[in-house]
Amino acid sequence: MRVFKPNKLFLPRNFDKPQISENCYVEIGAGRGLHALQFAQANPDKQLIAIERTRVKFEDFAQRIDKVRAQKQRLKNLTPVHADAIPWLVHALPPQSLNGVFLLYPNPEPKNAAQRWLNMPFFEFLLSRLKPEAKIILATNIEEYFAEAKQQAETLWQLPMKAFEVDKESRRTHFEIKYLARGESCYQLEIYKPADYQTRFDQWALA
Ligand SMILES: C[S@@+](CC[C@H](N)C(=O)[O-])C[C@H]1O[C@@H](n2cnc3c(N)ncnc32)[C@H](O)[C@@H]1O
Repeated sequence: MRVFKPNKLFLPRNFDKPQISENCYVEIGAGRGLHALQFAQANPDKQLIAIERTRVKFEDFAQRIDKVRAQKQRLKNLTPVHADAIPWLVHALPPQSLNGVFLLYPNPEPKNAAQRWLNMPFFEFLLSRLKPEAKIILATNIEEYFAEAKQQAETLWQLPMKAFEVDKESRRTHFEIKYLARGESCYQLEIYKPADYQTRFDQWALA
């Protein structure tokens, strides 16, 4: 696999560098924001940066936040971002800054294996942004995608993990609700970054 080149990525349009708290999580592909809102409301001590690339979905997400804020919940711990997560995270995060990452029902790119998160050179960069012992949560309804991600975590990235089926009563995201309502099984991987884990980006930060 080629090596990720963070310095080739341009600053995203309208980039606003966020303050990163001591207890920061990122959700990549937040969709219409159901999980992001639930997480931020349930965990006021945790900051969540929730990133969505598709405009229509992001607008729906932003409207949901407005509705909650209209009910006088300030949700200061939720930062919604309309962007491609890859260049945005490269410009936003110092090394070892995240307590966790959510990848909930990512589009598996059936024809393009290189576009799946654990097959991407960017995944090494993402690992470098995690604090020691932080975790990445990946959920999918596609058993082959789950099996491939599990194998990549084990053999390519050499990371410990837990793998299990998602509870049938779970209701975290719009896609999860849809798949479980259809009677499909959903699967989850929790991938841990060991305390002594090293990547080639551990010292890499923008000047
Ligand atoms: C299948 S949808 C799932 C949305 C949501 N997580 C859910 O479960 O309802 C996958 C989402 O990931 C977003 N996405 C894919 N790649 C992305 C990227 N590089 N940056 C930001 N969002 C991305 C897509 O726009 C899409 O909305």
